[in-house]
Amino acid sequence: MIWAERSLRRRLLAWAIVPGILLSAAILYEAYISARETADSLHDRFIVGLALGISEQVVATGGDLVPESTFELMTAGTEDEIFYRVSGPASAFLTGYQDLPEIPADQPLEGGVPLFYNATYRGEPVRVVAMSFLVAERDINGWVTVQVTQTRHGRQQVITESVVRAGIRLVLLICVALVFAWIGITQGLAPLKRLQQAIRRRSYEDLRPITHPMPQEIRDVVAAINQLLARLKVSIASQELFIANASHQLRTPLAALQAQSELALREADSAEAKESLGKILKATQHSSRLANQLLNLARAQHDRNGPEHEERIDVAQLAAELTGDWVQEALAKRFDLGFEGPTRGLWVEGSPTLVREMLTNLIDNALRYCPEGSAITVRTVAAGKPGQVVLEVEDDGPGIPQDKRSAVFDRFVRLSDQVEGGCGLGLAIVEEIAERHGGQVALHTAPSGGLLVRILLPEAPADPAMARATS
Ligand SMILES: Nc1ncnc2c1ncn2[C@@H]1O[C@H](COP(=O)(O)OP(=O)(O)OP(=O)(O)O)[C@@H](O)[C@H]1O
Ligand SMILES: [Mg+2]
Repeated sequence: MIWAERSLRRRLLAWAIVPGILLSAAILYEAYISARETADSLHDRFIVGLALGISEQVVATGGDLVPESTFELMTAGTEDEIFYRVSGPASAFLTGYQDLPEIPADQPLEGGVPLFYNATYRGEPVRVVAMSFLVAERDINGWVTVQVTQTRHGRQQVITESVVRAGIRLVLLICVALVFAWIGITQGLAPLKRLQQAIRRRSYEDLRPITHPMPQEIRDVVAAINQLLARLKVSIASQELFIANASHQLRTPLAALQAQSELALREADSAEAKESLGKILKATQHSSRLANQLLNLARAQHDRNGPEHEERIDVAQLAAELTGDWVQEALAKRFDLGFEGPTRGLWVEGSPTLVREMLTNLIDNALRYCPEGSAITVRTVAAGKPGQVVLEVEDDGPGIPQDKRSAVFDRFVRLSDQVEGGCGLGLAIVEEIAERHGGQVALHTAPSGGLLVRILLPEAPADPAMARATS
C-alpha cells in the first residue's frame, strides 16, 4: 500500500513511535556510557587505594607478601579477583604474582601518579593500575612499583544494572506514551468519524451544506465539500429546470399536433389514411403524456431542499375533493371509484399541487391497469401512528407481484406493455413527492388481491394560530 493511502491513525502512531524508539536508543547509549564512566571511576579509585595499602605493607615488612587476613580486609566488599605484584628497584620482583601483565611500553610511569591500563590476565579481561614510590629504607632503597589487577565483573555488573534500570524506565515511558498517543489520536480522529456518519446518514438528494461543528483542520475539507455540494445543487437544479422547460415547450406543439391528428382522423376518407392517422394520434398522445410526466417529475424534484411553496394542507379534504373530480371519468370508463375515511382534519406541511399530483398518478394507474368494472377506493386513515398521516389508494385489479414492487418505482419501468399510453414515470413521481414531504410510499396486496398503495406523511405540527383561537 502506498504511503498516501495508509491509515491516518497508523501514520500518526508511526511518527510518534519511530522517533520515540530512536530517542530511547540514544538515551540508553548515553546511560551505558555514563554508567561505564561511573563504574570505572569508582573501581579505579578502589584499586589505587589498594595499591597504596599494599605498598605501605610491603615497605613496612621489607618486601614480604601481604598477609592473607590483611589482604582480605583490604579487598572486602568486592567480588572481583584481585592480584598484585611489587617490584623493587631495577624492576626486581619483590612479592605478589610475577606473571601480571606488563606496563605498556608506550605509557611511561611517573612517580606517585597512577597509570591505568586494560589487559588480559589468566584469560580474563582485567583493569590494571601501576604506581611507583620512592622508598628509602634499610632493605629497600629506590623506586618500588606496585601493580594491582582487578577483573571487570564488578564494573560490568554496575553497567548492566544501570542500563537495565534505564531500559525498564524507558519501556514503561514508551508504553504510557503509546497509550496516551492512541487515546489522543482516537480523540483527534473522532470529528472525522462524526463527519463520515453525518454524510452517510444523508439521503442522496440532500445537498444542503454540512454545518456540524468541526475542528479547524477538517473545516477546510468540509468547506470544500460544501462548495462541491453547492455547485452540484446548481448543476442539478439547472438540469431539472432544463427538463421542465423542455417538456413545457414540447406540450404546446404536441397539443396542437394531437388536435390536428384528431381532426384529420375524423375527416379522412380512406381506411389507410385513417390507420396512419390513428397511429400518429397514439404516438402524439404518448409523447404528450411523456412531456407531462417529465414536467411533473421535474416539478417534484425542483427545490426539494427549500421550504418554498410550503403550506399547511388538509390532505383529507384534498383527497376527498380530488376523488370527486375523478368520479365522472371513472364512471365513463365503468369503474366504481369511492372515498373512505375522514374528509377533514389530516394536516401535513407541503405543496398542495404536488400532493394532488401524487394521488392523481395513483388513481390514473388504477384506472389504467384494472379491468373495467373494478372498484377503486381512495382512503384517508385517521387512527394511524401518532404524528403520521396515512393516505391509501386501493383497487381490486391484478396487483403488482411482490418481486416487482421495488422495480416499479424506478424511472421508465413498466410491467405491462400491452396497456398503451404509460411511460413508466408515475410511481417514480409518487415516491419523489412522498419523500419530498418527509414521507414514504409502500405497495401492498389489497384484501381483494389488487394493489394497495399506502403513503405515510409526517403530520404537521399544531397550527399556532388555531391553537391561540381555541384557547
Ligand atoms: N394499480 C396498479 N395495478 C397493477 N399494476 C400497476 C398499478 N399501478 C402501476 N402498475 C404497474 O406498475 C408500472 C409502473 O407504473 P407507473 O405509474 O410508474 O408507470 P406507468 O403507469 O406505466 O406510466 P406513467 O408514467 O404514464 O404513469 C405500470 O407499468 C404497471 O405495470
Ligand atoms: Mg402510471
